[in-house]
Amino acid sequence: MAIPRFTTPPFTIKSVETDAVTQAAAAVMPRPTLVPDTPATAAGSAILGTYKRAPVEFVGGEGVYLHGSDGRRYLDFVSGIAVNALGYGDATIRAAMHAAADELVHVSNLYTTAPGERLASWLTGHSFADKVFFCNSGAEANEGAFKFARRWARGIGSGTKHEIISLRGAFHGRLFATLAATDRPAYRHPFRPLAPGVSVSERDLGELSAMLDADTVAALIVEPVQGEGGVRVLDPGFLRELRALTWERQIALVFDEIQCGLGRTGTLFAYEQSGVVPDMLTLAKPLAGGLPMGAVLMTNEIAETIQPGDHGTTFGGGPFVASVALAVCERLADPALLEAVTANGAWMGEEIAAIGARTGRIRQARGIGMMWGLDVMQPAAPVIARALEAGLLVTSAGEYTVRLLPPLVATREELREGMGVLEGVLG
Ligand SMILES: Cc1ncc(COP(=O)(O)O)c(C=O)c1O
Repeated sequence: MAIPRFTTPPFTIKSVETDAVTQAAAAVMPRPTLVPDTPATAAGSAILGTYKRAPVEFVGGEGVYLHGSDGRRYLDFVSGIAVNALGYGDATIRAAMHAAADELVHVSNLYTTAPGERLASWLTGHSFADKVFFCNSGAEANEGAFKFARRWARGIGSGTKHEIISLRGAFHGRLFATLAATDRPAYRHPFRPLAPGVSVSERDLGELSAMLDADTVAALIVEPVQGEGGVRVLDPGFLRELRALTWERQIALVFDEIQCGLGRTGTLFAYEQSGVVPDMLTLAKPLAGGLPMGAVLMTNEIAETIQPGDHGTTFGGGPFVASVALAVCERLADPALLEAVTANGAWMGEEIAAIGARTGRIRQARGIGMMWGLDVMQPAAPVIARALEAGLLVTSAGEYTVRLLPPLVATREELREGMGVLEGVLG
């Protein structure tokens, strides 16, 4: 049945009534809701317009290239926003998916399955952690970490430790608590009130020292390399100070390695770069080779405070996704791959500096391994659009920053090709 629409630009007034009875009632007492017209509605897509999609449709991919429905090949320096670490059509992922499809796909967390156990053992065996909680996305992993931190901290002192602190420039997700920890006013303001008890601090030791109150704060969440916030590599000395403060005040230090973890910086975990070991660590993006999966890694001290029923998620760590994730993790931990990321990342840094010197179009560049942010002289959007036109996918990290996140398997030649295109479109 058609839903009546009455258009009064710039808003579409959309009735919420859906059946004959309620529509009759609506005729007497209409209950309109205001929704802004979006480019997606204008383009006729039935998908909600939460993303401003680029004018290209992808139909396939191989290695570091995506194939457009326009018949063109695009060099991908976005990797599905740091998800496709092994590129497209990777033989390991394909084999793992085919094998997993012949086994159980899902039974719920009411029962044990071997792939989830194997993956958890692998992750604890390769990190500081003793226990793992599996979920389905980055935001869900961070929300889980917040709950685990509060559960643990409630048992300390007088039971008032529940505050979560994040840092200026942080991005931790779009759910209510993670949005409260995300430092993007435009993302936050339309959805206030956000979850209480979550605040953003300057990346300043003086302010942090004042905010990290031993009696009230449960956790400090930090991206060792801030991704969405402009690719900011946090100084190892600063991270060490944060570790000392949180240690002394019994505050859980949570590293959000959703974007910078699993090989992207050149070590399996980004925390290895600084030697600062957190109490919890969140993962998602590349973890399951493009399948949705998140994880919270934690110490025994925190894990021991969590009881059955404290948290849960229906799909988390199911056998299909866990089998694929183990195959991906084994590849991402390969020393040869990590060495290549380190060497290629250093080369990217030098090349970006050389391009900046030649063109005068880069104000500043920051990065490590295969994640780089270039502050350009104009808004990033036209640079990204010109790159797409020239066959290179790049994305942004803030209004004036172009972000490069090539697949970790990109060769020097492929990187050189992309950097050449980028130089030509900087404006
Ligand atoms: C550092 C970081 N944390 C959390 C998230 C949220 O992850 P998801 O989009 O899977 O919820 C992102 C996503 O970009 C991220 O980069």
